[in-house]
Amino acid sequence: MEDLVALCKRRGFIFQSSEIYGGIQGLYDYGPLGVELKNNLKKSWWSSMVYERDDVEGLDASILTHSDVLKYSGHEDTFTDPLVDCKSCGLRFRQDQIPDYCKDEDLTEPRDFNLMFKTNVGPIDDGSNYAYLRPETAQQIFINFKNITDSTSQTLPFGIAQIGKAFRNEITPRNFIFRVREFEQMELEFFVQPGTDEDWHKTWVKERTQWWIDQGIPENKLKIINIDGDDLSHYSKATVDIMYMFPHGIEELEGIANRTDFDLGSHTKNQGDLDITADIIKNDSSTAKLAIQDLDTKKWIVPYVIEPSAGVDRGVLAILNEAYSEETLSDGKKRIVLSFKPHLAPIKAAVIPLKKNNTELVSMAKNIKNNLQTLGVGRVVVENTGNIGKSYRKHDEIGTPICITVDFDSLEKNIVTIRNRDTMEQTKMNIDMIEDFFVDYYK
Ligand code: GAP
Repeated sequence: MEDLVALCKRRGFIFQSSEIYGGIQGLYDYGPLGVELKNNLKKSWWSSMVYERDDVEGLDASILTHSDVLKYSGHEDTFTDPLVDCKSCGLRFRQDQIPDYCKDEDLTEPRDFNLMFKTNVGPIDDGSNYAYLRPETAQQIFINFKNITDSTSQTLPFGIAQIGKAFRNEITPRNFIFRVREFEQMELEFFVQPGTDEDWHKTWVKERTQWWIDQGIPENKLKIINIDGDDLSHYSKATVDIMYMFPHGIEELEGIANRTDFDLGSHTKNQGDLDITADIIKNDSSTAKLAIQDLDTKKWIVPYVIEPSAGVDRGVLAILNEAYSEETLSDGKKRIVLSFKPHLAPIKAAVIPLKKNNTELVSMAKNIKNNLQTLGVGRVVVENTGNIGKSYRKHDEIGTPICITVDFDSLEKNIVTIRNRDTMEQTKMNIDMIEDFFVDYYK
């Protein structure tokens, strides 16, 4: 973990937030390379969840959430962690994360601490106009259910996907970007006929596990576990976690829950014509019937929902951890390399002129960069340092799959050198071939 944290800062992936003022625990900023890596991961998720299917629609809803949404969802009452005070050191801890140096006799009894961030909306701050920063993106999907069924032609089974920020006032944020107070989630709410939910749950566990493998996480570093009764969230009938061997231990990367009709049911104004199975607070505030009509029987039903919910930041940490290696080369030198899958690499190619101050070489490199950039594959840079060895080392360390070196042969014979990050092999290529090679490489 220390090596990863150091690399992330040195090369511009991830910084501590507000560092110049001492930082705030549990908040991080993604730098020039971090934002590319994170965007590429989100793009890959969106592509597999929305573009490659016909039964999923996208959503980007507001983060500030009406207090009633989180009242009827059960979060006001139950979204808590047990908090314990140590009377000796004066610090507060989550009950399962008390450090060894605090003695049992100094600890208070645990009490419930709500993890939601509450904030005032509008100019009057008398406590009556509050909203929450959403603790999960999911609730906004549920409350938009009718908007989406009314404006699309989806029928069961179908899903709504959303990627966005979520906020939790974690008592003890820890392990770099693993447990933070502001993070991103990639969530799908997949609505199904009651009775088909258990089969769909199994299907989504399989799909999601394969997706993580496709992002470069080896199957033997993943563990699929069933969450037991007491550990289930208040809305879940069954949850399966995809766990990953993080640098600090094996922990949850993604959770796949069977939320039954709990959420749609909770946000629905039931006028007695709906069978809602979930145990909910009687809703006297909502105006909506979050249900769908069965085209055959004409009966209104509240669908069950299967929810694969993945953390973007935990995904970034897992991917960095898998990609990172230190190698000793045949000449005894060491190199650090991030072997990202090409589609996740922050920089897709670096074009390197052999000499920094040679106008013709630099101009040719810029032309190649501009041409590759227009292909829409991702970021391409000109690395104008004049030191090829150093540039290769840097791009190994930030995971750039391809370096393209422009030298005097390029000017005379139209030939560049292509260097592969993983094999370190160098091959000559005619400049006219680069675009096809590049597109083909990232297909
Ligand atoms: N909508 C369901 C839900 O929010 P969750 O298991 O509480 O379920 C889903 O969260 C995912 O969000 C987790 O698997 C994890 O990847 C990520 N996550 C949750 N809390 C987090 C935190 N404090 N910091 C970073 N990621 C977090």
